[in-house]
Amino acid sequence: MNTIITGLQWGDEGKGKIVDYLTESADVVIRGQGGNNAGHTVIAKGVKYVLHLLPSGILWDDKINVIGNGVVLDPVGLVQEITRIEGQGIAITPEKLLISDRSHVVLPFHKELDAAREAALGDQKIGTTKRGIGPSYADKVNRCGLRMADLLDKEFATARITARVAEANEILARYDLTTFTAEEVITEVYTAFERLRPHITNTIPVLHAAWKSGKTLLFEGAQGTLLDIDFGTYPFVTSSNTTAGGSCTGSGLPPTAIDSVIGVCKAYTTRVGSGPFPTGDEGLSEYLHGLGREFGATTGRPRGCGWLDTVLLRFACMVNGVTGLAVTNVDGLDAYDTLQICTGYEIDGVLHELPPADRSAWDRAVPVYESLPGWKCDTTGCTSYEQLPAQAKAYLIRLGELCGAPIAFVGVGPDRLQTLVAP
Ligand code: GDP
Ligand code: IMO
Ligand code: MG
Repeated sequence: MNTIITGLQWGDEGKGKIVDYLTESADVVIRGQGGNNAGHTVIAKGVKYVLHLLPSGILWDDKINVIGNGVVLDPVGLVQEITRIEGQGIAITPEKLLISDRSHVVLPFHKELDAAREAALGDQKIGTTKRGIGPSYADKVNRCGLRMADLLDKEFATARITARVAEANEILARYDLTTFTAEEVITEVYTAFERLRPHITNTIPVLHAAWKSGKTLLFEGAQGTLLDIDFGTYPFVTSSNTTAGGSCTGSGLPPTAIDSVIGVCKAYTTRVGSGPFPTGDEGLSEYLHGLGREFGATTGRPRGCGWLDTVLLRFACMVNGVTGLAVTNVDGLDAYDTLQICTGYEIDGVLHELPPADRSAWDRAVPVYESLPGWKCDTTGCTSYEQLPAQAKAYLIRLGELCGAPIAFVGVGPDRLQTLVAP
């Protein structure tokens, strides 16, 4: 059974935790898109791990982890991450971590170009993670990017980097940002590359062999559907296809290899960065931040919080082909008397059950809510779905009805063990 785990909101739904939970019964965990803009938190045996580029399966001893061709990989960032995770006692060997030779390299100046573009946008900025993701994918699509395989040919890579540095410097100088010399970029990139070299391989035949021999494959989505370059709240999105299809194009495994798609969402909604957020609610944000929750795993920024939005989820279930929902952070609503679920948007007097494409329509979208009673008790100690309070089950059932997908898993706390399997 091969499964894609995909985010249904604006990222940070708890994908890392669900991937980690499902890794126990998987053989291979694959990242197919995004880069170290992702921040996936896993809490296992009391230890907290934050992963950016490493697939969450890395925390298990006997699993293969693949960074696929669709990922944009910052070699310096990845080496820092490997060092940090190894410092937490996790071995990262070439047998355990495979990096696609087709993945694109995020170069140091991509991060500065990201900052330059944000500065140019002023109050229209995307609120990116400044990890160089957009500029790196832009180079890929513009056919002037550098892939891991290209780094194996130092002469070619040196010429490509030298040309791109010259072009980047022209832009950076305009914004008084740090410019680069080709030599310093080459030294920095190759220092990191030497650590990564034993892991770099053609991952496609490896994945196909695993598939054909009946191994269980788990695809770890990054970001979320509303950040997808096609389906998200464009232009306030990331630069890749974060939806289920991205796992196939980002790994070289075909759609026929996929058996199920688990869509991960929170029991409420969060968003970090700029862009529309119809159900955003200051009271809920203040409440969750007061509990020390909902601060970004990558940038530490406070996430905006709001009520559950089934307009987004309905659409996300459609475009991802969700076969089961994993609803995390149910415990975040434990204290509330009454809960709101957004069932539609009213835009210019017309009710919409799916999100609009027109960016100005988002600003006029008024959420239509349905109220449900809260459960007003601590769910964090529940060890089975049956133990959940009746109102929590009713909330989850309504969520599933409104989205058109069954509930598969429920999260009642950040720990690996606080994951309940729905009947
Ligand atoms: P990801 O990017 O989708 O992997 O999610 P993040 O790790 O960025 O953000 C999810 C946050 O929610 C992290 O702090 C997790 O530890 C936490 N989390 C995940 N599931 C649950 C849950 O069911 N309850 C609680 N309280 N926290 C959770
Ligand atoms: P995970 O995998 C939440 C957001 C940024 C910004 C927009 C574009 O942890 O769910 P980028 O740096 O990608 O160009 O930024 O996308 N963003 C995320 N928000 N979780 C993420 O990843 C994100 N990755 C990017 O905040 O709004
Ligand atoms: Mg995250």
